[in-house]
Amino acid sequence: MLVTNDDQLQGLRDCGRAVARAIEEMGKAIEVGMTAKELDDLGQRILEQEGAQSAPKTIYDFPGYTCISIEPVIAHGWADEQKMKAGDLINIDVSACKNGYFTDAGATFILPPVTPEKKALVAAAKRARDNAIKQARAGASMQVIPQAFQKEARASGYSLIENLLGCHGVGTTLHDKPEIIAVPDQRDKRKLAEGLVIAVEPFLSTGARFASDGMREWELFTPDCLTAQFEHTIVVGKKGPIIVTL
Ligand code: CO
Ligand code: CO
Repeated sequence: MLVTNDDQLQGLRDCGRAVARAIEEMGKAIEVGMTAKELDDLGQRILEQEGAQSAPKTIYDFPGYTCISIEPVIAHGWADEQKMKAGDLINIDVSACKNGYFTDAGATFILPPVTPEKKALVAAAKRARDNAIKQARAGASMQVIPQAFQKEARASGYSLIENLLGCHGVGTTLHDKPEIIAVPDQRDKRKLAEGLVIAVEPFLSTGARFASDGMREWELFTPDCLTAQFEHTIVVGKKGPIIVTL
């Protein structure tokens, strides 16, 4: 989607606020013994309060309202009776639709006790996202995004997951063009257009380069490695990005 007027920007912000609130409140609610289903119910309630619908449920008939991935699952985890344990890495990825606008965001949380290893990984994944977003301005190469991911991953000693998109279009549906792979590709000459709506989502890992299918439909794993993801939906502007999922 290309944003060309203020009404569209406002529509994205309204949807983005619902997503941001769901992630924030779900992140505060996690506790030892809570099930993914209980946390998903909370996410559903918040989206309903905000007048928004779950995007994965609406578009893909996903078996949850939100994606709750409890380690060792790294993405597309879904609501069930699995209980959270002390020390778990928990990724909460919420995407929603409101008044025809779609936004997508995610964050990785650690259920205490927080180990230095997990704390460092989560901080690096967040920096990779935030540094990439800072580079996203109209006229720049799309490659500034994977380049920023790679720079952070190398500086902090992590790998990037290469078989999940690091960035995708969003706005009028959940997954749209452009698709940008998480690792730099010199052949990619595409540029970021003013008003382009994209979700920026690096996955940093303690060694894995690929996510694998798990035992259950949808779920993705990185066997024997820890992996963390952060995501925001942004609108590319001339002077810099507008983050709509804050
Ligand atoms: Co996404
Ligand atoms: Co997402």
